[in-house]
Amino acid sequence: MHEITLTVNGVLRQAEVPARRLLSDCLRHDLGLTGTHVGCEHGVCGCCTVLLDGEPVRSCLTFAVTVDGRDITTVEGLAGTDGTLSPVQRAFAECHGLQCGFCTPGFLCTVTALLRDNPAPTDEEVLEGISGNLCRCTGYQNIVKSVHRAAEIMAEEP
Ligand code: FES
Ligand code: FES
Repeated sequence: MHEITLTVNGVLRQAEVPARRLLSDCLRHDLGLTGTHVGCEHGVCGCCTVLLDGEPVRSCLTFAVTVDGRDITTVEGLAGTDGTLSPVQRAFAECHGLQCGFCTPGFLCTVTALLRDNPAPTDEEVLEGISGNLCRCTGYQNIVKSVHRAAEIMAEEP
């Protein structure tokens, strides 16, 4: 077993994990953060996406021991400490960018990083940016709308 320390959503967390513990399982089972969803568990669907030092990664392809000492943001960390939803979360709610919601935590993390790096993406850039996240329900149109709406909200709220 290995003792690891992670900063998760701004809080220092410790866990004792076997060497092969996936980060997704560590977050969900060891740290109780079940907002990160697990679908395919082999790097295809993107629903397990979290931010590792600000960059989107598939937590099902990441061993927890390899991120010892690093900074992780999960979907639980996107809202403000007072519970105010982030612009991306608000836009997805407003534009119906979700149906069953299973894929949503991954999309929210991916889009948060996408808009940080490109605050006014074109349709093509949005599609490229979310191409690693699969959704079985929405047909993607409302997700693309949500990304543009989030960009608008972020531009209005410095
Ligand atoms: S659960 Fe990680 S990519 Fe599907
Ligand atoms: S909202 Fe159901 S899988 Fe995306």
